[in-house]
Amino acid sequence: MSNKDIKLVQLPSPNFVPERDKDKPLMLEVSHLGIDFGGLTAVNEFNIGISPTEIAGLIGPNGAGKTTVFNLLTKVYEPTRGTILLDGKDTHGMNTIQVNQAGIARTFQNIRLFDKLTVEDNVKIGLHNSIKYHMPTGVFRLPKYWKEEKKAHDKAMELLSIFDMQDMAGYIAGSLPYGAQRRLEIVRALATGPKLLLLDEPAAGMNPSETSELMENIEKIRDEFKIAILLIEHDMNLVMGVCESIAVLNFGEIIAKGTPNDIQNNPKVIEAYLGSGSINGGEKEGTLPDSSDASKPDAEQMSTGHLASPDAMIGGRKEES
Ligand SMILES: Nc1ncnc2c1ncn2[C@@H]1O[C@H](COP(=O)(O)OP(=O)(O)OP(=O)(O)O)[C@@H](O)[C@H]1O
Ligand SMILES: [Mg+2]
Repeated sequence: MSNKDIKLVQLPSPNFVPERDKDKPLMLEVSHLGIDFGGLTAVNEFNIGISPTEIAGLIGPNGAGKTTVFNLLTKVYEPTRGTILLDGKDTHGMNTIQVNQAGIARTFQNIRLFDKLTVEDNVKIGLHNSIKYHMPTGVFRLPKYWKEEKKAHDKAMELLSIFDMQDMAGYIAGSLPYGAQRRLEIVRALATGPKLLLLDEPAAGMNPSETSELMENIEKIRDEFKIAILLIEHDMNLVMGVCESIAVLNFGEIIAKGTPNDIQNNPKVIEAYLGSGSINGGEKEGTLPDSSDASKPDAEQMSTGHLASPDAMIGGRKEES
């Protein structure tokens, strides 16, 4: 089914999820999440519900707080306020490792691989949640060690095959082309066996054909692994093409939630991107919000405006700090 046919349904809570997941408990339920850095409120009143097989998007202008949300979900930062329920379990008090073991895996805006290790070893590091042996087994290379090693190798190859990367298993990760490093990071995250995969700008630096392949693979990952995916992305073709629901962040707060169609036609969203200076407003016809739409209901209530095409919202993005 194409994401153009997607229908979101309102839950008893203030969340929208794809219709097929409506009777399943949410995989991620975030309420009133926020963090202050000194005097700066980077994220505030962040509420989101993601169902178990949903592909959700988080978009917004540079500096809106998107990566900070990921850092809160993965406990890189301890939230100043709010709750995060993963598969019904409160992650309060968990550290980054415990949150990963509980089922959240991520990739980073800046690639973080062990670039001196092989591709296979990078994936094997991700397997630590599932392959375990006691210290003496490893030190003395006891039979169980070789059994587990074989298991890890097979699993790593199986995971690499998602992106057709088995042939690269022996390469040094740092020597791979950029797009392949990005894919390897996703494979490594998947190796930890997540229930929720967070992707921070997975298409950044990819060429158009790599990006469209990535789009297909994101859907394939969701279908094969039956997991929820939340992705941050500036590439609107990817976001609008693959996400079933989208939340838009501006100055740390959600200003709109809805289907890709709702979002790309939402005057508040268009205004946020215009305000960021990251839109090509004057040069593209039909990208400016119509003044008659200014009185449309709150975007959080799934407003139905019109205008701006997805590509109109793509901004020239700054390099990550
Ligand atoms: N550790 C920190 N200390 C102080 N301020 C921070 C910290 N981390 C993030 N911020 C601030 O929080 C705000 C949101 O940053 P964040 O990186 O989350 O934005 P973003 O939406 O991911 O932007 P981009 O699209 O450019 O990646 C920015 O003003 C940033 O400077
Ligand atoms: Mg970011």
